[in-house]
Amino acid sequence: MAIEKVVVPVAGLGTRLLPATKSQPKEMLPVGRKPVVQYVVEELISQGLKRFLFITGKNKRSIEDHFDRDPELLERLRAEGKDDLLDELDYEREGVTFFYVRQRLNPMGVPGGLGAAVAMAEDFVGGDDFVVALGDTIITGGDYSGLVRRMMASHERHRPAATVAVVEVSEEEVSRYGIVKPQKRTGSDFEAEDLVEKPLLGEAPSRLAIAARYVFSPVIFDAIRRTAPGVGGELQITDAIANLLKMGHKVRCVKLRPDERRYDIGTPESYFKAFVDFALADPQYGYVVRQYLQRKLREV
Ligand code: UTP
Repeated sequence: MAIEKVVVPVAGLGTRLLPATKSQPKEMLPVGRKPVVQYVVEELISQGLKRFLFITGKNKRSIEDHFDRDPELLERLRAEGKDDLLDELDYEREGVTFFYVRQRLNPMGVPGGLGAAVAMAEDFVGGDDFVVALGDTIITGGDYSGLVRRMMASHERHRPAATVAVVEVSEEEVSRYGIVKPQKRTGSDFEAEDLVEKPLLGEAPSRLAIAARYVFSPVIFDAIRRTAPGVGGELQITDAIANLLKMGHKVRCVKLRPDERRYDIGTPESYFKAFVDFALADPQYGYVVRQYLQRKLREV
């Protein structure tokens, strides 16, 4: 059966983006014209996914409001002939449904990591394979990337327990992500021998970082149960995936294509860069923004 379910964790505290994230989710920060999480949802719908479960938490209500059907707003847009906005905001027309569950807090009173977030999806997933897409990371390129579609096709073909998206990062970035050790020579779709969360540069097995999109079989929940808190005292999904390997399962990796790009909206620097790129790419205002930036850069 084709994969239809997708889990979108949005329960993190977003502390690196304080004070912008004191009372609003980082996933709702606008990048260009839309909040980050809207790009994520549109990408996944374009890849054929229809049933969304958001893993939410404190101060995340605006995400639910954003995806709630708003008949009054839709009617107004229809009356004003704003069809492009209607297309963007009327998800029900596409048969898409949204569900929400709050991530349980760990004994320290905080969300406790991506592994703990994914664990909340067990009832929703049932016995089906499913996608996990981080709500703070935009993937661009091609036909809204096609990345998740390639990952789902690879998952069906090779039957691993997990298929993760990977992208080559710079040396400075390896200690910010989960890093994959490939089994052999790497092409665009290969098997992992090991995974390490946020390694020191000298200890990183490669520069291939996990890129915010995953396909899992339900056995991931057993692996999460066998995983102890890791880096930062958080239950890391990377450690759970490494446990899948120890349990004798296969893990595959699908590489982003050169025309695909990952924007992780995690720090002020990555947020500013993403905003500039999206503003420059705006069909209506991109040209004006480019002229403005060129003028500004001549001044400094
Ligand atoms: P991050 O680790 O980048 O987000 O998680 P964070 O914890 O919010 O950031 P900082 O370190 O405090 O600045 C990536 C994605 O996973 C979600 C986040 O909401 C984000 O979309 N997440 C993270 C959860 O849902 N639960 C968690 O326990 C941790």
